[in-house]
Amino acid sequence: MTMRYEGRWMKIQAIRGMRDVLPGEVETWQFIESVARRVFETYGFCEIRIPVLESTELFSRSIGQTTDIVEKEMYSFTDRGGASLSLRPEATAGILRACIEHSLFMSESVHKLYCIGPMFRRERPQKGRHRQFHQIDAELLGATDPRADAEILAMLRAFFSELGLGRLEFQINSLGCSICRPPFKESVLGFLRGKEGDLCQDCQRRLRLNPLRVYDCKVERCRDLLMGAPKVLDHLCPDCMGHFQAVRGYLDLLGVPHCINPHIVRGLDYYTRTTFEVVSEELGAQNAVCGGGRYDRLIQELGGPELPGIGFAIGEERLASVLMAQRPCPPRPLELFVVALGPEAIREAFVWADKARMIGLRTEVDLRGGSLKAQLRRANKLGARRALILGPEELASRRAALRDMRGGVQVEVPLEGLGELLTQWGAEARDRGWTNPGRGRL
Ligand code: HAM
Repeated sequence: MTMRYEGRWMKIQAIRGMRDVLPGEVETWQFIESVARRVFETYGFCEIRIPVLESTELFSRSIGQTTDIVEKEMYSFTDRGGASLSLRPEATAGILRACIEHSLFMSESVHKLYCIGPMFRRERPQKGRHRQFHQIDAELLGATDPRADAEILAMLRAFFSELGLGRLEFQINSLGCSICRPPFKESVLGFLRGKEGDLCQDCQRRLRLNPLRVYDCKVERCRDLLMGAPKVLDHLCPDCMGHFQAVRGYLDLLGVPHCINPHIVRGLDYYTRTTFEVVSEELGAQNAVCGGGRYDRLIQELGGPELPGIGFAIGEERLASVLMAQRPCPPRPLELFVVALGPEAIREAFVWADKARMIGLRTEVDLRGGSLKAQLRRANKLGARRALILGPEELASRRAALRDMRGGVQVEVPLEGLGELLTQWGAEARDRGWTNPGRGRL
């Protein structure tokens, strides 16, 4: 799109890394979000809506100063009042800030919250990686019990199976705690000593600031180098190992298939113990549809009570692309197209279309006029199941013509009986899951 601005022609388009979700794709997003709401609420989660803009400090304190996200990917700016603000790169920190600010932890011991919305990271755009992307995030706060970890993963299993998605792998790991992680870091540093030059530039920097992040590197030569590297699971303290084994035991009890991936270190610093990712082979390099884990010290570090937490975030762009490839969601079919011929019929048709919509039937009324043939052509193009035709002759006899657009059969129906008929179609469409709730009847 070009527009004239201050005497110059400018091309206006979406910002790099930020994309539009258009009709045709948006139905898949709506389906994903409706299933998430239904499944999460079954597991006792409530929705929370938080601002997209927060103080920069919230993210640097929680995600970690030396993470890629905080170091180079946040959209931060100084507000007119002088405060440093950032567009949220993730939802966990904001959800915890809201719980602390509104003293939610005082009322209940366990909190289950979910949030759906856009996040912002200034990464290099590529397939599955955007600068504005969307997450479905869930957080279970206040439970140390390994059943909480298993419950979160079981909820994810229920969500993906409701979507009808196959070929996903649940990978889990443990990052230990403040007792067992420091010695593990030392042994990683020991293993890589003398091999620094073989690592990519990013990993050389990570090695100085945040050594475990080298495990997360996607560069082949770094991955090869790490083949024989120490594994965090061999370094867990007895408590962390007990927790990890208990989580796996509960996952087996619930029949949640999973495998261990000792390379899951996650790109955010707040994790302790269980970490996990759900990956799809169909996604290429950016293969994680979901990532999450436990963070037992974060609430306290943000100024809240000493409570543990565990959660995850699903990347909606990635999930929608897998779902569209495996089983695309067709748009909701148009139930009825109302054809109007002549000024009298236009008024009558407008009223009947409104009644059909009140019942919950997806209905269009012709707004452009033209011949019967032209209006039926439009109905056909929109994929309407039925057309209701109202013209001067029909009105004179208080009847309407009803055309089955698939079979082409046309019958006449008295206008008095039309309300009843619409109610019946509404019930049929509801059985197929195709109507809005509507009123159900006139
Ligand atoms: P994360 O691994 O940074 O974790 O992001 C979770 C998911 O968001 C990823 O697995 C991916 O599907 C999607 N995602 C991340 N960055 C992008 C991007 N640039 N473009 C497209 N999709 C992306 C978190 O954000 C944690 N807050 C998850 C969590 C919640 N942990 C505990 N509670």
